[in-house]
This record gives sequence, C-alpha cells and structure tokens, in this order.
Amino acid sequence: MPKHFRNEFRAELAVGFCPGCYMVQLTNLVEQEHLYNDEYAFFSGSSKGMSKHFQEFAEFIMQHYLPTDDSFVVEVGSNDGILLQHMAKRNIKHLGIEPSANVANIATKRGVESLVEFFNVTTAEKVKQTHGQADAILGANVICHIPDIHSVAKSVKALLKPNGVFVFEAPYIANTIRKTAFDQIYDEHAFFFGVHSVVNCFSRHGLELVDVMERNVHGGSMRYVLAHKGAHEVTSKVKQLLVLEDHLGLLKIETYQDFAKSAEKSRDQLKQLITGLREQGKKIVGYAATAKSATVINYCGLTPEHIKYISDTTPAKQGRYSPGAHIPIKPYEIFKQDKPDYAILFAWNHADEIMAKEKNFIKRGGKWIVFVPEVAIVENVKQ
Ligand code: TYD
Repeated sequence: MPKHFRNEFRAELAVGFCPGCYMVQLTNLVEQEHLYNDEYAFFSGSSKGMSKHFQEFAEFIMQHYLPTDDSFVVEVGSNDGILLQHMAKRNIKHLGIEPSANVANIATKRGVESLVEFFNVTTAEKVKQTHGQADAILGANVICHIPDIHSVAKSVKALLKPNGVFVFEAPYIANTIRKTAFDQIYDEHAFFFGVHSVVNCFSRHGLELVDVMERNVHGGSMRYVLAHKGAHEVTSKVKQLLVLEDHLGLLKIETYQDFAKSAEKSRDQLKQLITGLREQGKKIVGYAATAKSATVINYCGLTPEHIKYISDTTPAKQGRYSPGAHIPIKPYEIFKQDKPDYAILFAWNHADEIMAKEKNFIKRGGKWIVFVPEVAIVENVKQ
C-alpha cells in the first residue's frame, strides 16, 4: 500500500441552501492550500473542446470589452494560459493570477504573463499598483472555487476600471438539478451559482449583473457579465432568467431536497448495475479521472473490485490512484489496447469529443455506462 494512503486527506461533502440569498454552497470548505498547490493535476488544455471554447471566450472579450490598444485584461485562475494565450498573441496587455505554480509555469512558457498568487484584496491592490486597473477581469470555472466570495467581489471592485467588466463562467445550478448531476458536488466547487445568487452576492459590493449567456461546457454553464452598478445597461436576458429560475423552483428548499432524493436513486441504481455486471464477470473500467469521478466513486461505494482502472490522458494523474477508493489511474494507451466490456463515462461533459474518438471501443463490443442524466448502458452519448 503506498504510504501516502495512510495519511490521506478526507473531508465531508455536504451542500446547503440559503433561503435568503438563494446561494447553494458546500457547508464544509477545504483549505485552499490543500487544493491548489504545485501538484495541481487539472490542465485546462486537456480537451480539444475546451480549447475551442476558450478561443470563443477570448474572441468575445476582445471584441466587446477591450476597447483600446492599451486595454488590460486580468484572468483569475489562469491555469496553463489556455485563455490568455489568445490575448498574448495579439500583444494585448494581460495578467494571469494563478496559485498553482506547476500550471502557471506552462502558461509562462506560452508567453502568458502569470503571477503565482491567490486572488484576494492584497493581490488586487498589488496588481493595481504594478499594472493599473483592468478593462476586463475574467474567471473560467474558478470563481465558484473560491470560498471567500466576498473577498473576490471586493478585489474585483478595487481592480476594475469604472467602465470595466467582470466576466466569469461556472456550471449553472439549473442544469445540475435538471440532470441530477450530483457529481458536480466536489471539494473544489464551493458555490453552485444561479442568476439569483450571483445578483444577491455581488450587488452587496456595488457590482451589477448586466448580461448572462448559457454555454455548453462543464455540463451546462452560465457566463455572467458584471459591472460597477449603473455603468452598463442590464439586458433583458437577465430578467428572463430570474423569472425562469423562480418557475424552476430554484428559490425553494424543496427543489434541493428532491435533487438529493434523485441523487440517492441514481447512486443506488449505478451501484446495482455495476455490481450485477461484475457478478457476470464483466470487465469495467473508468473513462477519465475527473474531479467529478471522485464524488461518484466514493458516494456509490465503488472500489477496484468494481472498476479495474481509470484511463486518463493527463500525465500528472497517471500512476496515481483515485481519492478514497484507490482505483489505479492508467494512461489512455492502456484503454486503447485493453478490451474492457464497459467503460463508465466520468467525463460526460466531453461526450461529443469522446464519442468521436472512441468508435473502435463500440465496434469491438464495448459499451458506455452513464449516470447523467440517468443511469444507463448505451453505445452513444450526446452531450
Ligand atoms: P473535466 O471533465 O474537465 O472534469 P473535472 O472538472 O470534473 O475534473 O476533466 C477532464 C479530465 O478528463 C482530464 O483529467 C482529462 C480527461 N480526459 C480524458 O482522459 N480523455 C478525453 O478524451 C478527455 C476529453 C478528457
């Protein structure tokens, strides 16, 4: 048994709902230093779909919100520079703020100026002094990771030019509920934002939600555009979604209690399906060691007896083990050579890309096990 299993870090995952501001969030937050350090294993560039998405995101920002030649853009959690590289290539003044040195180093090699720091008021003040205020502050799947959300709001308030925008993307709570995507609940996801909770949280700090756009990444995300109060016109889409969220029941605790029941049902069905297949002697592997998979595996009580290994394309994850259950993580090449009967699609949010490249797996008789939006055995998965 590898020696680090003995001191393995564990935390309880539990979610709470605030009936006052409608925020859905983890109630037990993990120390930031446990999550983001120089062994951070998530590289934004690990999927083609996400590379395309970040290009669109960059174009959108450059076209709408970087008005002059000396415009300045800051990204919070800039990871390997997948977004800011597009600004860097066009010589746009930019700065990535990224606490994990290993991924920030890759960004630097790509020509992206990076500062290895957590984003907080001290960092914001420092950047203001060294670079000036920003025309745009961006965050892609990172603002929902920062437990001190009020510090984020204060930092944005300090660093943003009077007419600047704060644009961030996060998995959208309405999609998480609709798809029973209980695996979106994991240690890094401190907040499960919706339009109401974003409005309520940031308006306390004088920031106004002025536009929203749905995006088909990370299982269904929302792009939020915020600005200093009164600086930009609020689009009708914001109002439409506020009404829709009310209709969807996102302002009532009962909706979240129903979600918990659906998650339990999904968990029981998945465990039963996998146990049954194993009793028939079928070989089952996992496809992609996502953060989400840690929730599925531990919540369903799956072990290496159920899942032989998890294949993942990220070198930093290969040779390691899934948290808690200790299922080995193997290089993708193993999956290609091996002939598993079933593969559990943990990266269901990348289904289109994966289906396109795994036609052979189906040809040779393999099948997918999916659990979002429902537990099923299928030959094809639509994103
Ligand atoms: P992601 O789906 O972004 O999820 P999470 O935020 O839950 O970690 O994680 C992508 C992971 O999936 C990453 O480890 C790379 C892996 N992956 C593959 O192994 N093969 C693939 O074809 C794709 C698209 C991703």
